[in-house]
Amino acid sequence: MSVPTADADRTAGISPEEYRHALRRHAAGVVIVTLNGRHGPVGFTATSLASLSLAPPLVSFAVAAAASSFPAMQESDSVLVHVLGDHQRELARRFATSGIDRFAEPTNWSPLATGEPMLHGTPTWLRCTVEQRIPLGDHVLVVAVVQQAHVCTTVAPLLYHDGTYHRLGTLDGEPLRRETEQPPDCVTGDAGYPCQDGGCRTGSTTALLSPSDGPTAADR
Ligand SMILES: Cc1cc2nc3c(=O)[nH]c(=O)nc-3n(C[C@H](O)[C@H](O)[C@H](O)COP(=O)(O)O)c2cc1C
Repeated sequence: MSVPTADADRTAGISPEEYRHALRRHAAGVVIVTLNGRHGPVGFTATSLASLSLAPPLVSFAVAAAASSFPAMQESDSVLVHVLGDHQRELARRFATSGIDRFAEPTNWSPLATGEPMLHGTPTWLRCTVEQRIPLGDHVLVVAVVQQAHVCTTVAPLLYHDGTYHRLGTLDGEPLRRETEQPPDCVTGDAGYPCQDGGCRTGSTTALLSPSDGPTAADR
């Protein structure tokens, strides 16, 4: 189901470490995807949620082929995507932890009438039916139609960036930085900005990270 290794090697322009280092710069909202599996409730934390289409209302997310949730995800016709609030960091951690019963105490949940496990206290959730599963690399991209949406706008979202959880801050009200100004930290040597703190690295020539550096794109 995965892209053959030889093809992946041929098409890859950067190393896994460079990929991880770059993608850690991408801040993302945090969701938990749950489903009613044949052996009980299943769920995992994800940052790969993307809005895909308005008409029809499609979302996508990726699940690792190696994940314990993967077999159930392959079988399930429907999922519940929980868009977490900034009070749900521990829940996000629990649903990313291997080898535990993620639905045991202290997780509070109950099934919706349609069967999907609902994690209590989640401000926004989307009940979706699975439309397509596309094997891509070491993940499967799940494309799903949003059938029902519950939205609470009074809770701030939980964010993930550079291996840690964050809450939202706003730039509104702050003055815009003039384009001619240098950014506070290095951006990229190639773009003409001098590297100010030694953290600026470009291309495939630099050894970037030790393998022990935080969650990766593969294990997020
Ligand atoms: C912030 C964050 C985002 C994650 N995003 C994804 C994701 O989009 N897709 C995915 O398959 N796993 C993702 N994971 C990993 C899973 O939550 C989970 O840790 C992984 O499937 C390992 O669980 P397992 O040992 O039960 O297989 C993410 C983990 C974290 C902490």
